Amino acid sequence: MAKIRWGVLSTANIGTEKVIPAMQQGAYCQIDAISSRSLEKAQAAAAQLGISRAYGSYEELLADPDIDAIYNPLPNHLHVSWSIKALRAGKHVLCEKPIGLSAAEGQALVDEGRRHPQLKLMEAFMYRHHPQWKLAQQLVADGKIGELRTIQSFFSYHNVDPDNIRNQADIGGGALMDIGCYNISLSRLIYGAEPRRVFGIVQRDPEMKIDRLTSGILDFGSGTSTFTCSTQLTSRQRVNIYGTEGHIEIEIPFNAPADRPCKVWHQRGSEEPERFELETANQYTIQGDLFSQAVLEDTDVPTPIEDAVANMRVIEAILASAEEGRWVELPSTIHAARGACPTESPTPTPAAGRDERGCQPPQSAAG
Ligand SMILES: NC(=O)c1ccc[n+]([C@@H]2O[C@H](COP(=O)([O-])OP(=O)(O)OC[C@H]3O[C@@H](n4cnc5c(N)ncnc54)[C@H](OP(=O)(O)O)[C@@H]3O)[C@@H](O)[C@H]2O)c1
Repeated sequence: MAKIRWGVLSTANIGTEKVIPAMQQGAYCQIDAISSRSLEKAQAAAAQLGISRAYGSYEELLADPDIDAIYNPLPNHLHVSWSIKALRAGKHVLCEKPIGLSAAEGQALVDEGRRHPQLKLMEAFMYRHHPQWKLAQQLVADGKIGELRTIQSFFSYHNVDPDNIRNQADIGGGALMDIGCYNISLSRLIYGAEPRRVFGIVQRDPEMKIDRLTSGILDFGSGTSTFTCSTQLTSRQRVNIYGTEGHIEIEIPFNAPADRPCKVWHQRGSEEPERFELETANQYTIQGDLFSQAVLEDTDVPTPIEDAVANMRVIEAILASAEEGRWVELPSTIHAARGACPTESPTPTPAAGRDERGCQPPQSAAG
């Protein structure tokens, strides 16, 4: 079977611990090279992960003619510049979330992508590819909760290490950029629309200056989405989607475990809740394979890169609202310009009986 030959920009934890091992299990991916600012680090990671080539600079990786696609898990301030360099080197690019430091920066990447129409480019919002989100989308689309009216989502962990990239304000740290981007992304995914206006409240760490506790309201017109994200709270993640006739609860919405089934509950009115146990799946493997298939078959990637810029516009609007203490409107052209969502059919397995609600601690370290 044909496989895409991947190279990885840096020895980032998310790559070495989650994404690379997951992509190595994929049907359409092979990880052929890893790079680092330090050759020793690249060699150690290559040895640990069974990768054949190690480079002591990112430039050398991009110059390797035997690499088709680049996975970019650099810190947020380097997402756009290195993704642009990778495109110019003729590589397809899967870039970590959030797309950059601003919507304008993200748009520069979109523009560069348009100059290379033969190359695929996508933001790595892996959660979207997990079957539990296909199920949630399908339940909403099928009217199983009546009319969608509001979403409540929560994502938090506790990390006060000043050396962690999440705690460095100047390179794109903070709760909203690291994990609030998921709260915003899922809201836009489930509504299939852009919010018309948003309100944000931000509490910053007095020393590190990053936002450590951010809450937001997204007004979609037909309904709302409210969320809280934090880098200095007990670790937890949960999503509830409410309609006029029922609701959906996703137990581990973002860091879905790859070694056991995920659980989703659907309850209509006061009826007995229906519990779905999703087939065990690794969302990073699915993401790598979907992207690689798009390259192999020259089809669209699951999520258009424009979606990443739209998400960043909402992040910026939440921060502006918090700064100015008022609702911030999003231009109406943005509502209409939203990219299509993936609509693959879910394959849920309804589990018998009722379960204790919300009992399992989520696997959450960071976004
Ligand atoms: N999708 C997900 O599930 C998920 C989860 C976690 C994180 N992420 C995203 O992935 C990215 C990386 O997160 P991470 O926690 O894996 O980061 P990390 O462990 O700190 O790794 C970042 C890597 O970037 C390289 N780097 C280059 N310039 C740097 C600089 N100025 N400061 C620090 N590192 C620099 C370093 O690699 P070398 O020394 O090898 O060059 C470093 O190991 C972030 O954008 C984050 O939002 C996504």
